[in-house]
Order: sequence, then structure tokens, then C-alpha cells
Amino acid sequence: MTQTETDTPCTEANRRLPATPGDKGDAPPTPPPKVQPDLSVAITTIAQAGAQECETAQAIAAELNAPFIARVNGQPGNTAKHSDREGLLIIERKGLALWVAGQTFRYHPNMATMRVRALSQKKNDGLVDALQLKTGASLLDCTCGLGADAIVAAHAVGPTGRVRALESSTLLALLAIRGMARYSLASPPELIPAMRRVEVHHTDFTDYLRRETDNAWDIVYFDPMFSETIDLSQGLDIVRRLAYPDGPSLRDVQEARRVARHRVAMKDRHPGQNLARLGFTTIKKSRRICYGTIDAL
Ligand SMILES: C[S@@+](CC[C@H](N)C(=O)[O-])C[C@H]1O[C@@H](n2cnc3c(N)ncnc32)[C@H](O)[C@@H]1O
Repeated sequence: MTQTETDTPCTEANRRLPATPGDKGDAPPTPPPKVQPDLSVAITTIAQAGAQECETAQAIAAELNAPFIARVNGQPGNTAKHSDREGLLIIERKGLALWVAGQTFRYHPNMATMRVRALSQKKNDGLVDALQLKTGASLLDCTCGLGADAIVAAHAVGPTGRVRALESSTLLALLAIRGMARYSLASPPELIPAMRRVEVHHTDFTDYLRRETDNAWDIVYFDPMFSETIDLSQGLDIVRRLAYPDGPSLRDVQEARRVARHRVAMKDRHPGQNLARLGFTTIKKSRRICYGTIDAL
């Protein structure tokens, strides 16, 4: 499912993948299941919810196989006491809020706002330069997160290009899909059109890449978490808690090279140990991060 289908829960995304694996007769063995870091949540609404919020909450609860609990007046913590889940997904009039351990998180494009503004002022962007993104290009972003890189890429390739972003975390995908469809702060003016063009799919990149056809995308991109600590107590960073920690395997990179028409790119932390390990050539370094590329097959 894409983010433009605003009223359909994100777990439908997988249904948009090809029904059968791609055209490779010698399909590799199924990899071991990845760690499932999604929070357990109950679904609720804002206090004094209308029919629409209640309907959306029930639909998301059914889709996520999570309990719906009626909202109790006051702070979300009062409602949370009525469930045994770690958090609450609160259906609001204009979107979603995720409440965990007393903190509330709502979708925000983060650095994409500044980066799109800078590009519009003809300034450079590290990702756009490293990936050599040009008008009309197609990009498969295997690691969406909340989509900042995907939005910047969508701006760079313009309406004639295409950006699809994959996210394995159910809640992050849901927040990205609904957030990017509804975000409405129109500054800079180029931000929202770019955001709306990103197609977010809730799926695992290993599965997706193995099913995708050869040369389907100009560029395939990874920005993994690698060894980031996933710990809710660490700064109560909800996004970090939700993100899947694994980076691509050598096999994933090979599949990405088959799926890419021009190149595969990856972001890594300085000095780029993961780039070297996976066979990428480091092409751009800053003090904190570096990018690497590897040619398509
Ligand atoms: C560092 S974040 C990406 C940030 C993103 N580039 C941005 O600009 O906001 C990495 C994301 O990749 C996701 N991820 C990790 N493994 C994945 C997989 N196998 N398939 C799809 N997404 C994955 C994580 O859940 C996390 O949200």
C-alpha cells in the first residue's frame, strides 16, 4: 500500500508485492526470521472521539490484531492502565499519536524540511550528491524509517521520478504512511508534494528484494541502524525503539545489485566499517557519516 491510501491500515502493504516470487528459478533458502522489536500497543482514540476516529481505531485494531480500548478522560496513562500493552496508538482527528511510557510521538518530517529547503535554494545535499539523484530517476529506499531521506530523494527526482520506501516495523510504517499523507505544514512549499509522492510499503527488504524483478529501479539505497542500541530507557526515543536493528547481508546487497539498473548505495557511520565489510566503495565522508556505492550487476 502506498501512503496515498490514507484510510487503509499499513499492514495491507504486503498485498501490493508481487504475488509470486520473481523470475529466479533458484530461489535462495528463506533467511532466519529477524528480531521483532515492534511495541505491543492497544488502540484507542482521543477523548470525545467522533464516529470517524472510532471507525478508524477499530479498523486499525483489527488490522494490527491489537485490542481496541475505549478512551478514558484525562491523560493517556489513565487509559493505558486498562490494557496490558506497552503503549497506546491514539487515533486523533488529524492523524495518529503513539504514547509510550508517558511520552507522546507524532509524525514529523524532521530534517527533510531543512534539506528540501536547502535544495530549493540550490544548495547541496549529501544524499543527493552521493546517490547522483537526477530528475526522473527511480529510487528504492530499503530503509524508510520516518522517510526523511525518501522525501529528500522524491524532491530531487521530481514528479517524473519515483521513490518507494520499505519499512519492516509495523508501527513505523503506519506512522510514516499516515503521517506523510496528512502532514500539512506547507513550508517549504516543495515539501508536501515530495512527501506525497513517496510510496511507503510495510515490508522487509530481504523479502521484497528477492521478489523484485531485475533492473526494476535505477538506484537501491540502504540506511540501516546497524549496531544502534535499541533500548527504550535510552532517552525514551520511541523511533529508535521501533526500528529494526539489522543491516543488509551480503546476500541482500547482491539482490539489490540485481534489482538496481545503475547502482546500490548505503549510508554508514564514520569511518564506514559496514561499507567495507559489504563490498561498497566509500565515496563521500563527513565527520559523522559516509556513503558508499557499488555498481549494479
Ligand atoms: C536508520 S533508519 C532509516 C532512516 C531514514 N533513512 C530516514 O531518513 O529517516 C533504518 C530503518 O530501516 C528499517 N529496517 C531495518 N531493517 C529492515 C528490513 N529488513 N526491511 C525494511 N526496513 C528495515 C528500520 O526499522 C528503521 O526504521
